[in-house]
Amino acid sequence: MQSRERVLDIQPIGRTDLTLQVDGQTVRAAEGETVLSVLNAIGLRKVAVNDHGQRTGAFCGMGVCHCCLVAIDGRPKRRACQTVVREGMRVETAVNAVVGEVRP
Ligand code: FES
Repeated sequence: MQSRERVLDIQPIGRTDLTLQVDGQTVRAAEGETVLSVLNAIGLRKVAVNDHGQRTGAFCGMGVCHCCLVAIDGRPKRRACQTVVREGMRVETAVNAVVGEVRP
C-alpha cells in the first residue's frame, strides 16, 4: 500500500526573534508571519482606517477586500494580510493617505 504521509504542507517556522514597530511600540514576530497576524496577536482587531475615517478590521484575510490597509515603512495603503514581516519594519495602523492621520 502506498504511503499517505504528509510532506511539509506548511512553512516551517524560522526565526522567532524579529522585532518591528507597531504605532511606535516594539513588537516581536516570527519569520513568515503576516503583519495582520502580528496585529491580531497583540490584540488589535480594528487595524485600519477607511476612506471615510472609520476604523475597520480585516475581513477576508486573503488580499481581496482591502479592509486591512495600514502604512508600512511610511507607505500608506499596504495590505496587512498580504505583507510578510521583516526585521525593523514600521507599521502605522491609524494612517490613511486619503483622510490623513486619524487618532482613535
Ligand atoms: S483582510 Fe481583506 S485584503 Fe486584507
